[in-house]
Amino acid sequence: MTSSSKTTHNYNPTNTPAWKTLEQQAEKAQQQNISDFFDQNPQRSSQMSVQSGELFLDYSKNLVSDATWQALLDLAAQSLLEQHRAAMFSGEKINTTEGRAVLHGALRAEVGDQTVASAAAESDQRVSLVKQQLADVELVSEKIRGGQWFGSTGKAITDVINIGIGGSDLGPKLACSALQEFAHPDIKLHFISNVDGAEILTTLKKLNPETTLVALASKTFTTHETLLNAKTARNWFAETLGLENAQSSSHFVGLTANRANALAYGIPADQILEFAEWVGGRYSLWSSIGLSIAISIGFEKFTEMLAGAREMDLHFQQAPLTENMPVIMALLGIWYSNFLDAQSNAVIPYCERLLLLPSYLQQLDMESNGKSTTLDGESIDYQTGAILWGQTGTNGQHAFFQLLHQGTRMVPIDFVAAAVDNLSNEEHHRVLLGNMLAQASALMCGQEAPEGEPYRYYPGNKPSNVLLLDQLSPKNFGALIALYEHKVFVQGSIWNINSFDQWGVELGKKMANQLLASDSGVQAELDPSTTALFAHIKKCQE
Ligand code: F6P
Repeated sequence: MTSSSKTTHNYNPTNTPAWKTLEQQAEKAQQQNISDFFDQNPQRSSQMSVQSGELFLDYSKNLVSDATWQALLDLAAQSLLEQHRAAMFSGEKINTTEGRAVLHGALRAEVGDQTVASAAAESDQRVSLVKQQLADVELVSEKIRGGQWFGSTGKAITDVINIGIGGSDLGPKLACSALQEFAHPDIKLHFISNVDGAEILTTLKKLNPETTLVALASKTFTTHETLLNAKTARNWFAETLGLENAQSSSHFVGLTANRANALAYGIPADQILEFAEWVGGRYSLWSSIGLSIAISIGFEKFTEMLAGAREMDLHFQQAPLTENMPVIMALLGIWYSNFLDAQSNAVIPYCERLLLLPSYLQQLDMESNGKSTTLDGESIDYQTGAILWGQTGTNGQHAFFQLLHQGTRMVPIDFVAAAVDNLSNEEHHRVLLGNMLAQASALMCGQEAPEGEPYRYYPGNKPSNVLLLDQLSPKNFGALIALYEHKVFVQGSIWNINSFDQWGVELGKKMANQLLASDSGVQAELDPSTTALFAHIKKCQE
């Protein structure tokens, strides 16, 4: 994987002794019942729970015996996880296919955090660079929040549209929704990502161009959808304000790791907020891509979010494997995916402000670990990333929980909630959390069917984690996201894959370009089904 860390050659998780033990444990698990584990060990819930800062994870309701748990911990110890983790935090180029370091941790680090002595000086320099870049975020966000950033007609900004997609959209959008308790009362944030014109055109109709700022968010500044949406926004400024080249006015800022492209696009140099190329798109909300978050909640609270993520970084690096929250969650995912044939993992927040958490995690997890080639370029013959999906509770209870309780598939669940919610009231919050606890318990305990009513049988033995935040503060939100980042990292490391590239998205992009070119008369080689569909759409449009 790296020059200084142990080579990955010959490492294959399925060849470790722990993997073999886990295969045997999986056979035993067919006969085991989670509830019985509690009868056998009254200390189970305290033994199988862990705290980091203000995050508390109860993982006792998993189909994991003591022997299985030991074998999972052994798997982590027998993998290259600890070397990979040190390599990531010390800035080695662990994203081998793109030749890049993976340093989103540096976005929330402090001087002196580096534990690998030989990397300390470089790491401290990086922290200084990040602080400079974040100072720009502070300057711009505080100006906007203070009514000191003016549009071309001299009016202060009231609406900010973040135009970006994937990592340049999902993180900021989730954070602004999750932390709405702290939102600026007079400045509204809007997020445009889809190339579906209906999204941007409907949004623009509601806005006053004189008081609107576009935050053009793109790591590469080449993404087709983002540039087309930006063009539509520019046309809107031209049509409504007579402002040609709005991208060069005070109505646009650029958030990017590609300064040259942003300059070439026409964004003024002092309106480009940069971040480093070693920040992956799906890990970029902590960088200038998070400008919209800072505008919404203020830079001070933005830094609290970073501090929460840093707390999780330190926990991940320092806690022993047995008490390491990301490691624990990752191992449980591997157990279900690789040994018990679970196809998916549901994340169900009992908090409406975390509605977007599952879609954010879909990119984080599935773009990172949806891989089938090892770090050594070999084909993989074991399962990697699971399908992640979810929806908020209690809404999900009235939609898909039927399948969770009585369906035929195993779906391990992460329930996520805040113990205290300042935006709710006592009655609502008691009912909300009561429902979550009841669901987790019902899924595990199940129930016999009354005589003659087999359809009322609840098999139970359905596993879940409960992840509790003391409250949904910026700090705890930061820790929550960093927890999942590291969970994904641990799984990728054990599976011996590169969690930091995304070659799988390239082919579709290329074919879309070919197909669109053929629309303008250029001959493209399309498969027969696509050719027929294309023709059908054209006919409908005539
Ligand atoms: O196509 C996938 C992807 O590269 C994501 O990884 C990324 O977050 C998204 O596109 C947007 O990329 P950019 O920020 O460069 O516009």
